[in-house]
Formats: sequence, structure tokens, C-alpha cells
Amino acid sequence: MPTSPEIRTSTRDDIEAIVDMYPLAFPDEDLVPLVRALLPDEDIVMSLVATLKGEIVGHVAFTTCSLEGSSLSASLLAPLAVAPDFQRQGVGSAIVSSGLKRLRDSRVDVVFVLGDPTYYSRLGFAPETHVQPPYPLPAEWYSAWQSQRLGDASSAGAGKLVVPRQWLDPGLWAP
Ligand SMILES: CC(C)(COP(=O)(O)OP(=O)(O)OC[C@H]1O[C@@H](n2cnc3c(N)ncnc32)[C@H](O)[C@@H]1OP(=O)(O)O)[C@@H](O)C(=O)NCCC(=O)NCCS
Repeated sequence: MPTSPEIRTSTRDDIEAIVDMYPLAFPDEDLVPLVRALLPDEDIVMSLVATLKGEIVGHVAFTTCSLEGSSLSASLLAPLAVAPDFQRQGVGSAIVSSGLKRLRDSRVDVVFVLGDPTYYSRLGFAPETHVQPPYPLPAEWYSAWQSQRLGDASSAGAGKLVVPRQWLDPGLWAP
């Protein structure tokens, strides 16, 4: 990649460019309603964009969640998208790494993600077997449910991840 992307918090003015990118990155999946529901909720959603020469080429959101029966602070990584012309150039890794650093600086204890383990293991995630996702996953998706500890806590307990209303849709957790 010629230059590293700039990573910054998105603003309301970025929403339409972010929304336009999702169908390009996910031609078979409609994540636009989720993105539109998450982005304005700035109190609980950290939304980052990666830009190159001012153009938005990547986006990620981290949603504040909680853990049943635990006082640890938790976050959910999703969605993540990189514009097709800029994929496999380090943009996704850069934007996720920046988000994880910001969460660590904010004393978030643990981050969860449901995604390709081949990709997310490179970013420090490992299969999560104690904390359950909000809805049961099919067996073939078990390895896609992953977490990463950011703080000192060695265990995040064994309850369920409690998610805000935007994530209370079983369709977001099913194949
Ligand atoms: C998945 C995605 C976010 C990765 O971002 P990226 O900027 O392309 O990835 P990076 O350049 O940081 O990392 C590249 C590595 O990620 C993996 N990777 C990237 N895209 C991949 C894909 N479509 N399928 C499988 N592995 C992929 C590869 O291991 C790749 O390494 P390689 O080029 O040496 O083989 C991006 O490709 C994307 O938006 N894809 C379409 C949407 C999608 O599948 N999102 C899934 C998020 S859960």
C-alpha cells in the first residue's frame, strides 16, 4: 500500500459515504439498516473510518455491551468493511487495531466478534467458549464467535453478552 490510511472517528457528515460502501463490500448481505441504526448512537457506538487522500475506504463499529453476571466492560466489533478497491492492503487490520487501542485506552476489558477466525486470529482474537452470544449459533459457526481480552481480567465469566437494541435481531446472528 502506498500510504497508511488515516484512522479517525466518523462524523454525521460521513454517514452517507459509509452507508454507500457497505453494499459494495457485502453484495450478498444488507448491513445498511444496521449501520444506519448504529451510527447515530454515539454514546454506545465507536465508529471509525479509514481514509486515503480524504476518501473513506474502510469502516468499523464497536458497540458497548455488558456481560451477564459480570462487571467487566465489553464491546462488540461489527460491522467491518473495506471498499473493494482497497481490500488486502492492510486497511482492515489498521482500522481494527486502532479501534482496539482506543478501547484499551478507555479501559474496556474484552471485545467480542462474530467473523472469520482466519482473519480475526491475525488481530489477536481467539475462540470464545465461556461467554455466549445473544442468540444461539449453529454448530458450524461456533469457531466464528471470538473474543480478545484487553484488560487484566483473565476471564470474562460465563454469562451471555448483553447487547443494545440495535443488535436484538436474530437475523444478525444467523447464517
Ligand atoms: C474482510 C475485510 C474487512 C478485510 O479487510 P482488508 O483490508 O481487506 O484486510 P487486510 O488487508 O487488513 O488483511 C488482509 C488479510 O485478510 C485476509 N482477508 C482479507 N479479505 C479476505 C477475504 N475476502 N476472504 C478471506 N480472507 C481475507 C487475508 O488473510 C489477507 O491476507 P493476504 O492478502 O495475505 O491473503 C475486507 O476484505 C472486506 O471488507 N471484505 C468484504 C466484507 C467482509 O467479508 N467483511 C467481513 C467482516 S466480518
